[in-house]
Amino acid sequence: MTATSMEQIVSLCKRRGFVFQGSEIYGGLKGTYDFGPLGIELKKNIRNAWWRAMVYERDDVEGLECAHLSHPLVWKYSGHEAGFFDLLQDCKKCKARLRADHLVDGKCPNCGSTDLTEPRPFMLMMKTPIGPVDDGTSFAYLRPETAQGTYTHFKDVLDSTSRKLPFGIAQDGKSFRNEITPRNFLFRQREFEQAELQYFVKPGTDEQWWETWKNVRMEWWKAQGIPAEKLRFHLHEKLAHYAKMACDIEYEFPWGFDEIEGIHDRQDFDLGSHTKNQEEFDIQAKVMKNTDSTTKLGYLDIEEKRSYIPFVVETAMGVDRAFVVLMMQAYTEETLPNGETRIVLKLKKHLAPVKAAVIPLKRNNPQIVALAHQIKNDLLKTGVGRIMLEDSGNVGKAYRRHDEIGTPICITVDFESIEQSPATVTLRDRDTMQQERIAVDQLPEYLKKFFL
Ligand code: GAP
Repeated sequence: MTATSMEQIVSLCKRRGFVFQGSEIYGGLKGTYDFGPLGIELKKNIRNAWWRAMVYERDDVEGLECAHLSHPLVWKYSGHEAGFFDLLQDCKKCKARLRADHLVDGKCPNCGSTDLTEPRPFMLMMKTPIGPVDDGTSFAYLRPETAQGTYTHFKDVLDSTSRKLPFGIAQDGKSFRNEITPRNFLFRQREFEQAELQYFVKPGTDEQWWETWKNVRMEWWKAQGIPAEKLRFHLHEKLAHYAKMACDIEYEFPWGFDEIEGIHDRQDFDLGSHTKNQEEFDIQAKVMKNTDSTTKLGYLDIEEKRSYIPFVVETAMGVDRAFVVLMMQAYTEETLPNGETRIVLKLKKHLAPVKAAVIPLKRNNPQIVALAHQIKNDLLKTGVGRIMLEDSGNVGKAYRRHDEIGTPICITVDFESIEQSPATVTLRDRDTMQQERIAVDQLPEYLKKFFL
């Protein structure tokens, strides 16, 4: 089989209701996408797989969810206001706006001209007016990463959970960046989702933890079904303003290896800066607090009898990039013995948007339909995820549709099901297409074993 192209994924996503262009009926809003009935299920499953591995299966991580809008001072003192830029160049011939670091041989990718303006910094953060009067003075930034919210609440989480170092805070949610050139479907958008962990460690142990987290995260990608040969580490030479060391996990896309997650050693850059600047803010605002800088966003180490600002190792995954990677990896075209092509989305079962489809063979037979409803409701109680009643009335079409959207199990209710006692149904496996008959009362146990 040839490698999956982005066009195949975009087409499947639209055809089957995974992803639609944002504001499509008005020509689309560049860099935004909306998730359809199946897309939202897959996205939830990716989120849940990440949350399970990063929070539930560990004993050293808490969760947090912060607002998308935040005070301008958060982004001033995080260094983003001064340093979160891309270099922009305009093509003087075709007027295209270009990201300087994406140019090959200094040529415009649209028209090939080398007549470009000098590179100039272009702010990536998005601003929005806030409050009833839009006079330019009252505004907030839409967060370009979830991390800063986590830093501002480091002390709240520490105090409310009595954690000891090392420990982490996980956060998943939307981020916004005014990308100069959104491209490659969900890969580079202006509104996207991140799943980030800030892991707080004792200064001096950061390099060791950075190595540990690189490996933990690489294993997570493999556990989602991505083969090792499609993944690699890429060490950064050019670093973001906050990082001492940075390494990307990259996936081999049709255009080559590209970033899907970053693992950063941020040292005490962020907590340190917020601590220092919060003090100045308090002085200016005449807030009298009986605290010194190390108790602001610092940590009191009881054993060492001293306070200090912890260092931070961050893992930052793009949820939408995970979405694309998992779709690309799972997309399979098979040639059947009769020469037909079967498209199958071989997602790992915990990621599949629909876990099982219950298909009544005849949609105008009330007994068959009633049994199918009953099975659907019983299976829902297993808690394995979405169970869908698929009453299109054409079993062949239903199998094709569910192969394409990655449903691991199809359950068909037929005449035998209502005529025999105990009632049985046909169970069809997505990957092997093997069918077996199984008693209806054994289905919930079967599903639990299969999925949980
Ligand atoms: N808090 C650190 C941080 O945000 P980053 O490397 O800028 O680091 C982390 O972003 C991840 O977020 C990237 O590896 C990528 O998967 C995802 N990401 C970044 N910009 C994106 C965009 N414009 N569209 C989609 N995903 C993006």
